[in-house]
Amino acid sequence: MESQTIKVNINGRAYSLVAGRDFEVTETLSTVLRERLGFTGVRVSCNQGACGACTILLNGRSVLSCMMLAVEADGCDITTIEGLPADDPIIKAFAEEADPGYGTAMQCGFCTPGFVLETKALLAENPHPTREEIREGLSGHVCRCGVYQGIEHAVEKVSKAISEEGK
Ligand code: FES
Ligand code: FES
Repeated sequence: MESQTIKVNINGRAYSLVAGRDFEVTETLSTVLRERLGFTGVRVSCNQGACGACTILLNGRSVLSCMMLAVEADGCDITTIEGLPADDPIIKAFAEEADPGYGTAMQCGFCTPGFVLETKALLAENPHPTREEIREGLSGHVCRCGVYQGIEHAVEKVSKAISEEGK
């Protein structure tokens, strides 16, 4: 049987993955990213599309990597949390968010990569979302520590910073 090769660009680096050698055709994209390639910032919790932990950017759009096969990503650009610079404004806002009255946006940090990448996709489409639009945009994500208010505040903070930069 002819071997199947997929070509993907992950965090700016080209990968050529051969089925049967580098991955199995039945494996999800989250499994290949995490287990095969070591991008452990791709978190897997429910593994059934219900928690948002495994969110990545696929050609700039947020997708649940546990809900697609790796072969479906052939030819695509993938961004995981490892692909963002350490001074990314969204990462900074999540890390810094601890204003009195709001609490932290990051307690154990398990859900954070998914929220950060979803926020990236959200703000690319709508740089100045209302609190309701933030809630709606992040509604597919579960934070077991329950720091939703801090997360919403962090997103508002980044959005405000973006608008001030644009002035
Ligand atoms: S692990 Fe993919 S949505 Fe929960
Ligand atoms: S910060 Fe712990 S699950 Fe969200």
